[in-house]
Amino acid sequence: MTDSTQTAKRIPISFPGGRYEVIIGATLLSMLGQIVRQVSPAKRAALITDPRVGALYTGSATQSLTSAGFDVIAVELPAGEPNKRLATLIPVYDSILESHIDRQTPIIALGGGIVGDMAGLVAGTLLRGLPFVQVPTTLLAMVDASVGGKAAVNSSAGKNLIGVFHQPAVVVADTSVLTTLSDEEFRNGLAECIKHDAIRDVDGFTRLEGSIDRALDRDIDYLAELVVHNVTIKARVIEADPYEQGDRAHLNFGHTFGHAIEQATGHAVTHGQAVALGMVAAARLSRDLGMLTADDAKRIERLIARVGLPTHRGGLSAQAVTQAMSVDKKIRDGKPRLVLLQGIGHAIVRDDVPISAIERAAASLRGHDGD
Ligand SMILES: NC(=O)c1ccc[n+]([C@@H]2O[C@H](COP(=O)([O-])OP(=O)(O)OC[C@H]3O[C@@H](n4cnc5c(N)ncnc54)[C@H](O)[C@@H]3O)[C@@H](O)[C@H]2O)c1
Ligand SMILES: [Zn+2]
Repeated sequence: MTDSTQTAKRIPISFPGGRYEVIIGATLLSMLGQIVRQVSPAKRAALITDPRVGALYTGSATQSLTSAGFDVIAVELPAGEPNKRLATLIPVYDSILESHIDRQTPIIALGGGIVGDMAGLVAGTLLRGLPFVQVPTTLLAMVDASVGGKAAVNSSAGKNLIGVFHQPAVVVADTSVLTTLSDEEFRNGLAECIKHDAIRDVDGFTRLEGSIDRALDRDIDYLAELVVHNVTIKARVIEADPYEQGDRAHLNFGHTFGHAIEQATGHAVTHGQAVALGMVAAARLSRDLGMLTADDAKRIERLIARVGLPTHRGGLSAQAVTQAMSVDKKIRDGKPRLVLLQGIGHAIVRDDVPISAIERAAASLRGHDGD
């Protein structure tokens, strides 16, 4: 392997029955072919992307794969959450099958979490499972969506309801691609970084508070550090609970409220914005229940605001939010299961919180001060 793969950081992730590596570094895209070759001897490789990422990076990815001896089957998916559904994938299955693949043909996702989720479902179901390579290109996908083996599409009944667990063979995170990401998408990823520290690492949270300007400046050295730190946290959580039967639910901090807010606003807010609002609501609820100090709830809000994510949303209907929660798959026996904080760095799941308290926390998002 060449210099850039040697200087890259490798984070091993184990799951029942196997392990894979998340490789993090700058200029890894030009090494993609060599890396994929290590996990597949196939003649062909399917490269799935979306139009924007494709225009920027398909050229170098394809070149690298071709040099490693792969015939590349290029597939472009339409971008956007409304397209993340089964119907979008029907022609994709057909076109990949028409290209004479075999059981070793890798499916490579080059893009954000949407491409990753759709390609992961394709990889998990085509020929009952093909090797899957994640090449995340958004911060959110690098620190969250590409790691853990969950892949799903949306149904009209809700988000991510049709899916599989299908672990990647390798994840290749080239942090230099983060420089072309829009500010909005970059902030969405920072929301997940705040989430990780909030649930697991109070020292990491303090460091993030101190380094947020470097993150916002997209300091390339810091970005690699940030991705390594966050993948390490996510790895620790999913290794302890690969099939989401216990503490993996902590990764849903801000997400039970967040998904409900996405639903209640008809996706007028992005995932990252909804999660930011959801973390504010969950922090305030934790405070109201006496689990988090008012100061720590404020620290979370301040960091979210510092990143440029919303901490309030005028006109939000608290009732619509709790109603949307009732169709979320995280509900057990009709009771919302909420991830709350017992201090920064310590998440716990509660399913005994009165709806009235949940509604109050959601309603608090309409104002600026949260009281
Ligand atoms: N499977 C999981 O465990 C998991 C976890 C978290 C989120 N998700 C899913 O991930 C999705 C969100 O992913 P996302 O935030 O990455 O959104 P996304 O995939 O829609 O990407 C955001 C936008 O950025 C563009 N883009 C991507 N990389 C770029 C780059 N390097 N330069 C310029 N533009 C670039 C894309 O074309 C797209 O328009 C949601 O559907 C969510 O449900 C899945
Ligand atoms: Zn998320």
